[in-house]
Amino acid sequence: MNENQKSQSIKVLLVEDNTDDVLIIKKMFSEIRKVDFELVCADRLQTAIEYCSERKFDVMLLDLGLPDSQGLDTFYKANTQIPETPIIVLSGLDDADIALKAVHEGAEDYLVKHTYNPSMFVRVVRYAIERYQMLRELDRKNKELLKLDKMKTEFIAIVSHELRTPLTGIIGSAQTMMRLKLTDEQKEHSLKIIYSEGKRLNLLIEQLLNISKIESGRFSLRIDFISIPEIVEKTLSITPIPEGVQVKVNFPDKFPQIDGDRNGIEQVLINILTNAVKYTPPGGKITVEGKEETDSVIVSIQDMGPGIKKEEISRIFEKFYRVDDAVSQKTRGSGLGLSIAKGIVELHGGKIWVESAEGKGSKFIFSIPKKYKKE
Ligand SMILES: Nc1ncnc2c1ncn2[C@@H]1O[C@H](COP(=O)(O)OP(=O)(O)OP(=O)(O)O)[C@@H](O)[C@H]1O
Ligand SMILES: [Mg+2]
Repeated sequence: MNENQKSQSIKVLLVEDNTDDVLIIKKMFSEIRKVDFELVCADRLQTAIEYCSERKFDVMLLDLGLPDSQGLDTFYKANTQIPETPIIVLSGLDDADIALKAVHEGAEDYLVKHTYNPSMFVRVVRYAIERYQMLRELDRKNKELLKLDKMKTEFIAIVSHELRTPLTGIIGSAQTMMRLKLTDEQKEHSLKIIYSEGKRLNLLIEQLLNISKIESGRFSLRIDFISIPEIVEKTLSITPIPEGVQVKVNFPDKFPQIDGDRNGIEQVLINILTNAVKYTPPGGKITVEGKEETDSVIVSIQDMGPGIKKEEISRIFEKFYRVDDAVSQKTRGSGLGLSIAKGIVELHGGKIWVESAEGKGSKFIFSIPKKYKKE
């Protein structure tokens, strides 16, 4: 057998101390022609455990009566100390009950000594390996589902909390207006709170709908032939820029039109620019630049804010994630802006990332392929 064949063969660890039984099994394996088996023998449980720590076996044939372990205990020890290997128990006619118990406790199957033949062996070993792999896959999917369920519960908890904050403001102000005799000025103050909290609620719901559509694959792009410099111009005209903050736009004259969803790209730019504005100190500058590559265009938004710590960079695109810094403590936000931007860019087949260091400002960059390819 060459090395390649060896790596494809089924690796069997036989744990058996009775030399006659070992010989019978070896002989049987030698008679099997259709399947390649590689048989390794251990005459003690401890030796089997050591072998398994050195290499991986596809299946273990385990005699329960060994010099260093007896009965069902042998199965328990093997199963806990070698959890990655399916076990087939070998039993004598008189201890088949114990073997059956081992199957109830997690052994894949059992074989009664002196009753087996080569074809039965092949079938039992193959079924054991297959069943074991299926169970592991089921277990993996189960864990994934549990994780998703937990994430969903957490999502609902965060959303309820986020929605409650503006609602409390609205209800409180409305109550004040109903209960007390207010001056016109006080009324106007309460109404302003109702209006701004209502707007915030509206934005929040829109963001939540967007992220939920992106995550469930229901966010459909309306692909047009778009000009990013035009969208940048429009975005700047609707984004409030504080006095003293300068925005410089720098696109080459012949910047190509590309395939893209106009509203989607506008949303990406709004979300990044709103952050840049939030973090840029008075007197600072924001630079929006465009660059053409062979198959894509690259847009960057550089600010003169405090920058982002290295350990936070990998997390800021996660939904609801906000860095606990001086600016985010002062301003309100739900931590959805960048996750939505990432979702929209990726739906276009593009990428989004940030280059930033503490004290050096942040540069958010995204690329969009010139030609849209539906997945
Ligand atoms: N330009 C930036 N400079 C420094 N930190 C930033 C910048 N942009 C984003 N961040 C950090 O990344 C976090 C996530 O940004 P994101 O836009 O997703 O959420 P948000 O602005 O807090 O809330 P939302 O956009 O939903 O109103 C921010 O809370 C902030 O900590
Ligand atoms: Mg934001």
